[in-house]
Amino acid sequence: MSLLWTTEALVEAMGGRPIGSLPEGITGISIDSRSLEPGNAFFAIKGETMDGHDFATAAVKAGAAVLVVAEGKLPSLGRLTAPMIVVQDVLAALEKLGVAARARSKAKIIAVTGSAGKTTTKEALRHVLSAVGKVHASAQSFNNHWGVPLTLARMPQDCNYAVFEIGMNHPGEIRPLVKMVRPHVAIVTLIAAAHLGFFKNLDEIAMAKAEIFEGIEPGGAALLNRDDPRWKLLGKMAKEAGVEHVFGFGENARSAFRLAACELYADHSDIAVKIGKKDVTARVGAPGRHIVQNVLAVLGAAQLVGADLDKVAAALADLSAERGRGRRHILHHPSGPITLIDESYNANPASMAAAMALLNATPVSGEGRRIAVLGDMLELGSHSAKLHAALAELIVGTGTRNVFLGGPEMRALADVLPSDVETEYRAGAEELKPVVMSAVRPGDVVMVKSSKGIGFSKLVEALLGKFPAEATTIEPT
Ligand SMILES: Nc1ncnc2c1ncn2[C@@H]1O[C@H](COP(=O)(O)OP(=O)(O)OP(=O)(O)O)[C@@H](O)[C@H]1O
Ligand SMILES: [Mg+2]
Repeated sequence: MSLLWTTEALVEAMGGRPIGSLPEGITGISIDSRSLEPGNAFFAIKGETMDGHDFATAAVKAGAAVLVVAEGKLPSLGRLTAPMIVVQDVLAALEKLGVAARARSKAKIIAVTGSAGKTTTKEALRHVLSAVGKVHASAQSFNNHWGVPLTLARMPQDCNYAVFEIGMNHPGEIRPLVKMVRPHVAIVTLIAAAHLGFFKNLDEIAMAKAEIFEGIEPGGAALLNRDDPRWKLLGKMAKEAGVEHVFGFGENARSAFRLAACELYADHSDIAVKIGKKDVTARVGAPGRHIVQNVLAVLGAAQLVGADLDKVAAALADLSAERGRGRRHILHHPSGPITLIDESYNANPASMAAAMALLNATPVSGEGRRIAVLGDMLELGSHSAKLHAALAELIVGTGTRNVFLGGPEMRALADVLPSDVETEYRAGAEELKPVVMSAVRPGDVVMVKSSKGIGFSKLVEALLGKFPAEATTIEPT
């Protein structure tokens, strides 16, 4: 396997004190001994609850080529004889390596932030750009103070494109991260009430997201959602940050990447997009209007980094919904199939609206019903009760008549749903499970959505356990 870093370059980038007989180089970087592959360097990062130094022995057993550890922790590592690079602070060393990775790279770099759709957009970019070059992208939602430097440090020298997810819960978090990433193109997917508990209002969220503009490379571009009420504020902030090019994507007539036509189907969408004088038509393999919106940003970014748009557009056809983010399963029931839409990864008011639209667009069969199984949207602070109650309008508007609710915050919604919506409310996922399991019938479409912390993925697992999936529209992970 080719080397990601030679030891010489590692030590040069991070400083530090090598101990023992170090290998020629490392094949990858790991911060988790459970997923470490032989030949990787193990960085003993200290998290909120765990300290990587406690897993140094496990990392050596898993085949770590070298350990990167803190000087202060050395005494606690006892008789461990593995090759090590000893640094003052392991996270700071990872950041330095990330900066070095960026400095040696010739790749076109794209950064993605926003209140929802970061991972979806990042994975779509990974997928389509793979049709035109070698792509490196963040794993999962590795978008924070350790996820971003880790993704940077993992960037192979020879990749053509790299895509970084950058997230935040508080003001000031994006700025240092984007300054390491130095993107050529920065996408803001949308501004919505995610983590609103930490902010006064949506403008404040927009301003925190706008920190991403401060790291854009000279000559680079900001790519903004032209349909978002805060695009103007964001555009102004991009200009103030010195960004040379600001483009919009959306349905709005003035978008640089404009949705000219869109047909939504249960399992895909067909779109026509106007990019300057060029018309691009594409089939998008994952359903939902929100996915189309993300795809406009994907096409925009692809164009801005000079990728072949025809190849990129063609690759959209086999895009697939991510696990917990709209992935579909056709469940086997002796008397007919049940469609399960797994949205259990995440929920905020914007993604709730997207998921309800998805449910609404999915056909039932026979006597089947559309069933929404909804759990709490977390981190909404003092806005929480109001935003949960506001979902009533969405439910009534989409004509959903069967609703199962779980979690303390959902009480506010249960209290205001009209009587013609059949509603079952329970305290949490565990309590709701038997009620949902016994309620589903052949022909139903069941959409499960909540914030991750509420644990509705257990409901998805229970449904998959009781009614094994016949097929999925996408490959299993
Ligand atoms: N453009 C969009 N508008 C509204 N909802 C969206 C959009 N794109 C994706 N979603 C939905 O939002 C949820 C979260 O998606 P995704 O994981 O891509 O977001 P994220 O921004 O990466 O979240 P996180 O902050 O947890 O990393 C999913 O249910 C997904 O279907
Ligand atoms: Mg994410």
